[in-house]
Amino acid sequence: MGGEKPSGSAIRRDRFSGGPARGFLSSLAADERIFDADLAVDRAHVVMLAEQEIVDDGSAGEVLGALDAIEAAGFDALSNGEDVHEAIEGAVIDHVGPVGGKMHTARSRNDEVATCIRYRLREDLLDAIEAVCGLREASLTIGADHLDTTMPGYTHLQPAQPTTVAHYLRSYEAALRRDTERLSGAFERTNRSPLGAGAFAGTTFDIDRERTAELLGFDSVLANSMDAVSTRDFCFEAVSALAGVSLTLSGIAEDLLHFSNRGYLTLADEYASTSSIMPQKKNPDTLELVRATAGDASAGLNGLFATLKGLPRAYNRDLQDATSHVWQTVDAVTEATDVTAGALATATWNESVLADAAAEGFPTATGVADLLAANGLPFRTAHEVVASAARNLADANANTGTGALADPEAQLDAIDAAAGTILDHALDEYVPREALAATLDPTESVASRDSAGGPAPDAVSGALADAREVLAADEATLADRRDRLATAEDTLSQEVGVYV
Ligand code: ARG
Repeated sequence: MGGEKPSGSAIRRDRFSGGPARGFLSSLAADERIFDADLAVDRAHVVMLAEQEIVDDGSAGEVLGALDAIEAAGFDALSNGEDVHEAIEGAVIDHVGPVGGKMHTARSRNDEVATCIRYRLREDLLDAIEAVCGLREASLTIGADHLDTTMPGYTHLQPAQPTTVAHYLRSYEAALRRDTERLSGAFERTNRSPLGAGAFAGTTFDIDRERTAELLGFDSVLANSMDAVSTRDFCFEAVSALAGVSLTLSGIAEDLLHFSNRGYLTLADEYASTSSIMPQKKNPDTLELVRATAGDASAGLNGLFATLKGLPRAYNRDLQDATSHVWQTVDAVTEATDVTAGALATATWNESVLADAAAEGFPTATGVADLLAANGLPFRTAHEVVASAARNLADANANTGTGALADPEAQLDAIDAAAGTILDHALDEYVPREALAATLDPTESVASRDSAGGPAPDAVSGALADAREVLAADEATLADRRDRLATAEDTLSQEVGVYV
């Protein structure tokens, strides 16, 4: 015991502690994000060291007391150090003298930083999951109000077949459910403890890795000490799951931009912005920024991948640079998810504009061909008849601007005429005109598409009910995970209380 009191700026003063590269090496500014995590990791480690009698209770109490003071002073009070781990250790020594140097017994910054990143990221992943669940909730709630709201469905951005707003929204809810599953899997593999791995080769001290894992709320321990400090696959998995969310968001944003351009949807004013010069403008900029978030996520994913690629075992300083990609991605995607949920929840779907649009471009043509096929015509022949009618209607539309493509009477006449030139028998020998007329109506067309997963209101109503159950289960898992982390935090502070 004893010895000269080292200062925070020189806890390893006999080893390369200064020089022009010092700033380049430092991650201190970026480490603010893991300040709380590091304090928790330090506390759990010191409690375990005391329980294992590696450090005496009195020393543990002094170190833990210093950690409380450092927490109260806040991150900005940390003066020096290559990173937050070193800065906190230096501050502990500044507070209590050389005994503070016992804190780093039986560990390395390599296992320490990996533990801190996991500790913080799991919270961020839970926030991301909560945001995605919020967007699912908004989709299901609005969908339930619009089971019968007919809208145009597109392929290649061309009118294709009518569908409903509920069916459309449920399509994204399904994607967001899978996004939730991927984030949840990333959480599971993030919530494992590398602490106690040391630099990579374990330690000679009789540590208890299970105990620190438990005190920090981790589900399990990463067994192999070299794997534990080396791997950032949990970061890669989290960022890829988040990039997946950003892809889903970009599709929603693109659709909603298109829909507001067409007047199908009106965004609430708080999700739009104005022009500095054009007084009439209401621009859906929020959705454009949501669409752009896929760019951030893609940058994060690529940056992380390129940084991790080809790294040898075990710890390499490149890993320090990898972390910022994770924080940037999770922040960008979670915020964009919240904004999308808000924009969706407050937007108005303009039902009559949607209904008119659902009739445009002869979108019930497939249903007509289906009906002819159901009445004995080979589907290919039926397709030919209806395609010929559609061609003639489109020509008439282009030449006269009469809206023939959306006019059921004109459609019926065109089908009749096409049948006359292609079929051997008159059309009504296959299908009565009234039956055809019903098929041409977009609402009837939607109602008839009642196959599993189809847009018929009854089918979608059942799908929404199922989706609600799955969402409730996902939210319960989220709440349970949050509870377990909170319980671990309480336990840790009680255990710290034994010594302080
Ligand atoms: N700040 C570093 C990081 O974020 C941890 C330090 C480990 N440094 C070392 N030279 N082994 O990865």
